[in-house]
Amino acid sequence: MKTLDKAPIKAGTKVLVRGDLDVPLENGKILETKRLDNMEKTLNHIIQAGGIPVIMGHIGRPKGEHVAKLSTKHLLPYFDKHLGKNNYELLENTRFDPREKQNDPTYAEELSKNGDLYVNECFSTSHREHTSTVAITKYLPSYAGYRLKKEIQVLQGVLKDPQKPMALVIGGAKIEDKKPVINNFLDIADYILLGGKVGLEWGDTLIENVHTPIDYAKDTLDIGPKTIAKYAKILAQAKTVVWAGPMGKYEEDDYIQGTKGLANSLKKVKERGGLVIVGGGDTVAAINKVGLLNNINFVSSGGGAMLEFLSKGTLPAIEALK
Ligand code: 3PG
Repeated sequence: MKTLDKAPIKAGTKVLVRGDLDVPLENGKILETKRLDNMEKTLNHIIQAGGIPVIMGHIGRPKGEHVAKLSTKHLLPYFDKHLGKNNYELLENTRFDPREKQNDPTYAEELSKNGDLYVNECFSTSHREHTSTVAITKYLPSYAGYRLKKEIQVLQGVLKDPQKPMALVIGGAKIEDKKPVINNFLDIADYILLGGKVGLEWGDTLIENVHTPIDYAKDTLDIGPKTIAKYAKILAQAKTVVWAGPMGKYEEDDYIQGTKGLANSLKKVKERGGLVIVGGGDTVAAINKVGLLNNINFVSSGGGAMLEFLSKGTLPAIEALK
């Protein structure tokens, strides 16, 4: 896989960047810019080399139709401010075209006409075999952006050579999505701590390093105080922690204690020079809600993409760059 630093960008080279544009919007205002901020190094590199980034990507799930509130036009003020009005181009939401999700060669060819080179700077959608992430690589010389490269490096490090002891924390819902990660970490992690609905859904299967809650808050909507104490003690001693999925229904203040207790214990890991990785919109929102994002060293931009990378060690759009 070639990275952006190897791309032959000269004055006027158009670089088609598959960006991470899927940010939350409300009445056309961007509520959280982190994903766009993550693209800064790549976009600046292109501009400084004399090239023109032609940014494309999706927002939301418009189902192949034009949905005005999901237009990339809402991102123009952000890019004007950060890149300069005449220094870039921005294409419309790729998912307004039904062919985006079909990994379609004709759409890929059409998109490729907008650039001389292609850069994938969208880790969070790299688990999708879509036109703008996979098929496009057949039509242009293709490179990985700096943020994509960083995500791969950090997550690969955890899979191949984590500092021990290592703990994997899995919460949220949908055990079927999380099982492949849990299975892949049975031999990697010293502790696998389950909470949220996943904790309830795990059932009676006994595996030495897999821990399920020993008590719950009211209506099982959060882990209970004994579980918080047990998990926090384990985490405080860990050197590597990977966390996906909140411990309870964090949207309600009554059920955020589990997530808060665990996030608090991570301070010690970071202070000791350990690595704490968190991914997924809900997990990040929950930790942010209790003001403890400072305890995390690496916030992955991917939710589903991070889980799939952690279960398989690669993603379709990463393979397409090879
Ligand atoms: C995300 O928000 O995780 C990415 O933008 C992928 O979105 P998707 O789940 O709609 O493909």
